[in-house]
Amino acid sequence: MRRTGAAESVEGRDTIRFLLDGILHEVSDCDPTRTVLQYLREDLHRTGTKEGCAEGDCGACTVVVAEPDANEGSRLRAINSCIQFLPTLDGKELFTVESLKNGSELHPVQKAMIECHGSQCGFCTPGFIMSLFALYKNVQAPTRREIDDAIAGNLCRCTGYQPIIDAAQRMYARDLRGDNATWIDLPRGTADAGNSLAARDDALRRLRDGACLALEKDGRRFYAPNDIQQCSALIKDNPQATILAGGTDIGLWVTKQFRDLDCVVYVGNVAELKTIAVSSSDIEIGAAASLTDAMHVIVARYPSLEELFMRFASPPIRNAATLGGNIANGSPIGDSMPAMLALDCALILRSGRKTRRLALNEFFLDYQKTALRPGEFIEKVLVPLPDVSSHVASYKVSKRFDQDISAVCGAYWLRLDGGTVKDVRIAYGGMAAVPKRAGNCEKVLRGAEWNEASVSAAMKALREDFEPISDMRSSAGYRREVCANLLYRFYISGGNEVASRVYSYGR
Ligand SMILES: Cc1cc2nc3c(=O)[nH]c(=O)nc-3n(C[C@H](O)[C@H](O)[C@H](O)COP(=O)(O)OP(=O)(O)OC[C@H]3O[C@@H](n4cnc5c(N)ncnc54)[C@H](O)[C@@H]3O)c2cc1C
Ligand code: FES
Ligand code: FES
Repeated sequence: MRRTGAAESVEGRDTIRFLLDGILHEVSDCDPTRTVLQYLREDLHRTGTKEGCAEGDCGACTVVVAEPDANEGSRLRAINSCIQFLPTLDGKELFTVESLKNGSELHPVQKAMIECHGSQCGFCTPGFIMSLFALYKNVQAPTRREIDDAIAGNLCRCTGYQPIIDAAQRMYARDLRGDNATWIDLPRGTADAGNSLAARDDALRRLRDGACLALEKDGRRFYAPNDIQQCSALIKDNPQATILAGGTDIGLWVTKQFRDLDCVVYVGNVAELKTIAVSSSDIEIGAAASLTDAMHVIVARYPSLEELFMRFASPPIRNAATLGGNIANGSPIGDSMPAMLALDCALILRSGRKTRRLALNEFFLDYQKTALRPGEFIEKVLVPLPDVSSHVASYKVSKRFDQDISAVCGAYWLRLDGGTVKDVRIAYGGMAAVPKRAGNCEKVLRGAEWNEASVSAAMKALREDFEPISDMRSSAGYRREVCANLLYRFYISGGNEVASRVYSYGR
């Protein structure tokens, strides 16, 4: 243990500790932004995990991570190792494709891929195996839609997806399971951490000793506090620090922009920031809760937002990424923001012991400029609970259905009183320097009859709200037209498109 120096009140541990194949693994003297993929391939020579894009897009680097959960024991989730920094594994268990083999016997996922001819050149195969292993562990009898979603973040250029989908159905067959049912539960247990789920959970909990991870190498620092007091003290004392949540934006600053991050505070181990609770008025989402968890709770209340979240990147990205990170990033094309603005969400911002509440609508000031003050961070996102009289929808328009960035994303909240618009909130991404409410359009609709004429006038008013730019995703003219047409889509869909199925993958 040593003092961190930067925040004198915080004691730190300078060794990263995680389980790999059930064995305690300790790493010291580590470059804080070394990725899990670099560590696996270059230091451990576990070269089964591949590097394709190094930006979270292709899935060649997919691994599975188990993390203790307050209620449910450990959860196993696929993530992209190419953009995940090694110190974020502290207190977790890592599984790579090498973990799955038991002596000479392959895992049922691997056997099914061979039988169904799901691999040709093989470069993408370890990534697919790991995404399917996560599916295997989380869902007993997945639907075709759940299978498609599970591999939405994995690209294959040779095989075609049908044999891989066949393998995803075949992998559950009894005859593929070996004699050792415990091993099917989890790969290779050891004396360190037993073979059963319960023993592994216990071992993971013991790894979390309550100490803040505090690394320093070549003048660069990395802190992973465990509780909200430590976390807020560190951020307040280091206002220049990079606040790291899921790293699905920040990882690329390092792998693609080669930026050096001098001081990082990782918020992903802070239990209070990972909590999701439901009060009498709001869903309270801790800023470091994963998007997978956040979307599960939001979609259960707002089923019409299901498609929006399903089309947010891929499961490995959603498993790491957070709603807090999407908002703090302030990108004009962040997909959650239009819906969060239309729902009139609020943020709880924290600095040291002080908190303040800010309407999300007041958070985005200018291009990538937010109302966060130095030393302040997002603690919670408050999503108002739905009421029976309001209609909600959000539509994303992008070139591809899965894994693509929006050209335009629109979101709508409407309350009618008979045929009259009692209140309305409309927000767009991709139309301005920040995600933004359409004030003029809302004004035209508020108090008007909810009919074709009013909606036409509101569509015209959108021209006064936004002056979009042309870029590689679309032209300004296309954006203007699509933005208006999406409002019309909301109108002709009755203002209330409810997805037919409630999303359940990942729990
Ligand atoms: C392959 C790929 C696909 C993607 N697809 C989409 C997509 O479809 N739609 C979309 O909107 N985005 C997409 N993204 C972008 C990214 O996944 C999201 O912006 C994500 O929500 C970021 O969350 P994070 O936790 O990973 O943030 P991080 O990368 O950890 O941080 C992002 C920013 O937020 C700040 N931050 C994080 N947490 C806090 C906090 N609690 N308080 C204050 N500041 C904080 C960080 O300092 C940083 O500036 C994609 C990214 C990748 C790599
Ligand atoms: S290497 Fe492509 S997603 Fe990681
Ligand atoms: S088997 Fe060659 S890329 Fe998938």
